[in-house]
Amino acid sequence: MSVGIERLAAYIPSYALSLGDLAAARNVPPEKMTAGLGVHEMAIAAPCEDVVTLAASAGLRCLRRAGIDPSEIGLLLVATETGVDHSKPVAIFVHELLAIGRHCRVYELKHACYGGTAGLMTAADWVRAGGTRRRKALVIASDIARYELRSAGEPTQGAGAVAMLVGNEPRVLSLDAETGTYAANVYDFWRPFGRREALVDGKFSVECYLDALGGAFLQYRALERPALGSQEALSERLARLLYHTPFPKMASKAHRRLIELDWRAAGRRDADDDSITASFRTLAAPGIEAVSHIGNTYTASLYFCLAGILEREARALAGRRIGLFSYGSGCCAEFFTGTMPSGVESVADAGLRDLLSSRTMIDMAEYERLMTSSELGGEPPSSFTGEFVFHGVRNDRREYGRLRESMAA
Ligand code: HMG
Repeated sequence: MSVGIERLAAYIPSYALSLGDLAAARNVPPEKMTAGLGVHEMAIAAPCEDVVTLAASAGLRCLRRAGIDPSEIGLLLVATETGVDHSKPVAIFVHELLAIGRHCRVYELKHACYGGTAGLMTAADWVRAGGTRRRKALVIASDIARYELRSAGEPTQGAGAVAMLVGNEPRVLSLDAETGTYAANVYDFWRPFGRREALVDGKFSVECYLDALGGAFLQYRALERPALGSQEALSERLARLLYHTPFPKMASKAHRRLIELDWRAAGRRDADDDSITASFRTLAAPGIEAVSHIGNTYTASLYFCLAGILEREARALAGRRIGLFSYGSGCCAEFFTGTMPSGVESVADAGLRDLLSSRTMIDMAEYERLMTSSELGGEPPSSFTGEFVFHGVRNDRREYGRLRESMAA
């Protein structure tokens, strides 16, 4: 039975900050951010938005695009590391906002940025196990990445959500059953209770990411080895490689590491710079284009890369296999593959292009006001494209509402 992503839809907040403006304000050469990290803009959430509204907006867009009635959802998983309550899951707010039926398994998942993949794998296994009674799973990855102002992590913030409908008619991506995994207890990135901004050991986190990539990829490669020819690189069997992208330069470091390991495992000479650069341009660069305008979206980051290639090149990728690498600090990682079926171009619209073109760029003063404000809720900005708003907290309870009855698809 084929299992995988049937439909995918993205949502990003309506505000964005140019990294050129951030560099100027922090007295840093702009190239450090645009070339050194690879980020051009980052999405910023307005006070009327939180992970619940981001997730619900992505979820509604996904259901609408798929033409699915909410009662057909038998499993709703929301992955986030921006939880709003120690006990009450983000997923149950989303369940209500999307009017999903009572007979549904609903919960939140957390393992830093790996949570989205944990959700996708759990949903795929649920479909494979056959207990779905012909219903489908909705997996939503939703996050707001925040670091301290003026910290090294500041240019790697962002916000957004990606919703994926998972079932046995995968028109977007049919998942292969085998995957490679890796886990280790490391303190590279964390956010203790009560803190809004994450703590991070930045340089160490890059090393942890690359170690985990090596561990997960080599386990996957060993599983695929019997099918590989003499000195054949696994990467050459893949049309694209997508990486969890906290900032685009991380994907280029990851790609270098993967190609070096792949060539070495194939018994070839060491991969040279020209070969790595050429393979990066073909296999990995298309995946990070959209992300360079959004920033880090933690659990959703890898799936924004998928949304990006879906919109840009679905027709060219129809029938082709791609590789995906998911990393979550702390850490857990997974390397997996899947095939974009023929006809994928008919489900290529993830809504990303329209969202990116309708944003409002804010200046540094407004950015700093939003980042330091304790304001919760409030009026949506005039460029607001979401469907749901966060009204604020009353009697220790969070309140949400629907902004409009009909939404642009
Ligand atoms: P930094 O202090 O900006 O580092 O921190 P840097 O000074 O080494 O500069 C970065 C790059 O810019 C370097 O390139 C410089 O050479 C270059 P590299 O050597 O890496 O190739 N550079 C310039 N390039 C052009 N023109 C210039 C110039 N100046 C310098 N003038 C760091 C960077 C990533 C550490 C920081 O931004 C940070 O801490 N970010 C947050 C942590 C992070 O994103 N870690 C990534 C791996 S962990 C992960 O992905 C998980 C995560 O998503 C969370 C989760 O799982 O939940 C974070």
